[in-house]
Amino acid sequence: MAQLLNGKALAQQIQTGLTQQIQTLKPQIGRPPGLAVLMVGDNPASAIYVRGKERACERLGIASFGQHLSVTASQAELTQIIAQLNQDERVDGILVQLPLPDHLDSVALLNEIDPDKDVDGLHPTNLGRLVRGEPGWRSCTPAGVMRLLQFYDIDPKGKQAVVLGRSILVGKPMALMLLEADATVTIVHSRSQNLSSLTRCADILVTAVGRSGIITADMVKPGAVVIDVGINRITDVTGESRLVGDVQFEPVQSVAGAITPVPGGIGPMTVTMLLQNTVWSYCQRLKGQTDSILSQSV
Ligand code: GUN
Repeated sequence: MAQLLNGKALAQQIQTGLTQQIQTLKPQIGRPPGLAVLMVGDNPASAIYVRGKERACERLGIASFGQHLSVTASQAELTQIIAQLNQDERVDGILVQLPLPDHLDSVALLNEIDPDKDVDGLHPTNLGRLVRGEPGWRSCTPAGVMRLLQFYDIDPKGKQAVVLGRSILVGKPMALMLLEADATVTIVHSRSQNLSSLTRCADILVTAVGRSGIITADMVKPGAVVIDVGINRITDVTGESRLVGDVQFEPVQSVAGAITPVPGGIGPMTVTMLLQNTVWSYCQRLKGQTDSILSQSV
């Protein structure tokens, strides 16, 4: 039976550390950290994610500057809100919840975010830094996966890693972070042929497809580490609605060496990496204050 990789427990542990860090820094900086989550429309999944992020901020003592805009919000309106948040000294992080309604150009909006406040790591500058292996904000879901692997002493170095999905949010940055950790990486997507033969090569299999149960036991190499990023709401045979991942959990659990549950795996890690990036961005501002005090005294 596979070892369970408990993202929820690790997330709580990291969040406890962040809470203490905020309490220490607040008197020095003179304000709490600030995060702005922008959401447009009423996509039910996004509403749940955004509420989760805002509740976590409240628990840790991070001020929320988020706005929930109607589905009719215009590109110009959002561009202006982002410009204001870029200037607002109380705001350390800005996140535009994806997906956006079709009439909005998400790429153009992500480009408007100040790269220093891009705690979601989706601005081209930060994605470029990731490609080049330079320090920068790393997108939260793949960063959460890497942190969970590290916690359980699973070193990707020299391993075959297969990533299912090629989105900017998860698949591409995930592949780059595994590459950065010296894994041999394959990205598999909807047009890939012989999917099972590719996934069966994986020592580390990361699935970010968003289709419940797409990964069956025969697609998994015995002993592999299976990371399930998918969060899908299904109605089961009893008529009850519940969250499941991309992986058929019970059958795969009996083949894999380690596996993340859904819920309680990568979901809480994603939120925690967002909080951590926000607190780190807040710390940078303290460093900025120190730098300006030092430059005045020279
Ligand atoms: N939609 C689902 N997850 C995320 C996330 O981590 N960041 C953003 N911006 N949108 C999302």
